[in-house]
Parts: sequence; C-alpha cells; structure tokens
Amino acid sequence: MSEPLLKVQGIGKRFGGLQAVNNLSFELKRGEILGLLGPNGAGKTTAFNMIAGYLMPDTGKIWLDGKDITRLPPWEVCRAGLARTFQLSKPFSGMSTRENLVVGNLVKTNDRARSERKADELLEFLDLTHLAEVDADTLTAFERRKVELGRALSTEPVLLLMDEVVAGATPQEALQMVELIKKIRDQGVTVLIIEHVMKVIMGLSDRVIVMHLGELMADGMPADVVRQPNVLKAYFGDDYVDTSA
Ligand SMILES: Nc1ncnc2c1ncn2[C@@H]1O[C@H](COP(=O)(O)OP(=O)(O)O)[C@@H](O)[C@H]1O
Ligand SMILES: [Mg+2]
Repeated sequence: MSEPLLKVQGIGKRFGGLQAVNNLSFELKRGEILGLLGPNGAGKTTAFNMIAGYLMPDTGKIWLDGKDITRLPPWEVCRAGLARTFQLSKPFSGMSTRENLVVGNLVKTNDRARSERKADELLEFLDLTHLAEVDADTLTAFERRKVELGRALSTEPVLLLMDEVVAGATPQEALQMVELIKKIRDQGVTVLIIEHVMKVIMGLSDRVIVMHLGELMADGMPADVVRQPNVLKAYFGDDYVDTSA
C-alpha cells in the first residue's frame, strides 16, 4: 500500500462559541475522487480552508504527500501541489480569460512562454478558447467557474480541492462539469470535492465522507453511505423515516 496523498488528523476550528470543525480525520488515496458531503453549516468549507492554508487549525495535523503542511500559508500549500477553487468564483477582474490562466502558472515557473502554452492547453481543455481574449468580468457564471477551475489547474496541482462547483449550474452544465472532473482525475490529479448536490457526488466519487455539525459522520462507498439512516436524517431532518425496517 502506498502512503495516502492527503492525511488529515484530528483537525478542529472554533469560531467564538461555535465548534465549526471538531476532531476531523480522513485520508485521500492517490488517484481517488473523494466527495465531501454534508448539510449547510456542517463545516465543509472550514475544513477545506484549513487544508488549503487559509485558516490555521486550532488542533490537528495535515500532511500532503508525506510533507507536514499544517502551518504553511496558502501560497506555500499551493507550491506543495494543492490547488483549490472557491465556493464563489471571482476571476481577476480587468484581465482576459487567457491572462487569468497564465497568471496561475507563474507560481510554477518564470518562463512566460511556458505559462502561455499551459494557458492555451487549458483553454482548449475547458472549451474556452473562443473566449480567450474576452474580459473575464463579462463571462457567464458557469464560464467564470470554468476559469476558476482553469486557474487552479494552471498551478499544476497533484491535489485539487473543489468547493460546490455546480452551485447554480443548469443540469447540462453540471453534467459538463462532472465530465471535466473525471478527465482531470484521468490525467493523474487526485480530487477532493465538496458538493451539496447528492446526485453529482454519487456519479462522480469513488468514496464519500459526510460531515455533520463539524464532525465526521460517515466514510465509505457512495451507495452505502447514502443509505445510512443517520446520513439521511442529517440531510432531510427528523421528517426522515426509515421505511426499510
Ligand atoms: N469566519 C467565520 N466566523 C464565524 N463563524 C464561521 C466562520 N466561517 C464559518 N462559520 C460558521 O461555521 C459553521 C460551518 O460553516 P462552513 O464551514 O461554511 O459550513 P459548510 O461549508 O459545510 O456549509 C457555520 O455555522 C458557519 O456559520
Ligand atoms: Mg461551504
């Protein structure tokens, strides 16, 4: 067995009187798509922010590829091979779509021509070539999401963290995004994806973990996890009645 690509051990974060994440532990295998599920307010984004270096955990440790990244700032976590998208996508304004993708690659190299080649590759991959020279501010919400994804990929990550990438997307757009994520994985990038929409996670994830009230509630195969009564109850509330008995 090879070492996990990401190892999260006992991380926690408190905001005032609220324990947003409590003693969260999980691992991510190389090449896996892991879905992080949980109702609103479960602590998913807070967990992401700790992993990506945007929030310092109060407790616990995080390793990427065997390297302790717990106390590294975001740009060093990124240099170590982790890229993330935000729940709300905001491209660099006043820049073209292409320029947005060039800038991301500059963390990896000082060779601008190389960054431009990488950007063109990504434009093609994301089906954005026809919008390359357009000001990123004028793109539709879904196009902006793809730029955001492209910007993350332009840093050439080994691990990609995605936060609610199909929020507000049409069913066709969601499908397109799912296909893109599968292709990204097939190119060797490991993926951790937060998603509120169960259907998306089910079709995409090799394994899912579920958070509720800051804690890990389930870890397993998608089909098994979504049948667990405690998971259904967390999602649908006390109205959920187990009829399988
Ligand atoms: N910066 C913050 N300050 C105070 N409370 C926060 C902050 N960020 C998140 N929270 C709270 O922590 C809890 C978990 O939030 P979040 O991680 O965003 O959940 P999720 O992404 O699962 O919806 C929520 O109750 C939220 O209001
Ligand atoms: Mg969130």
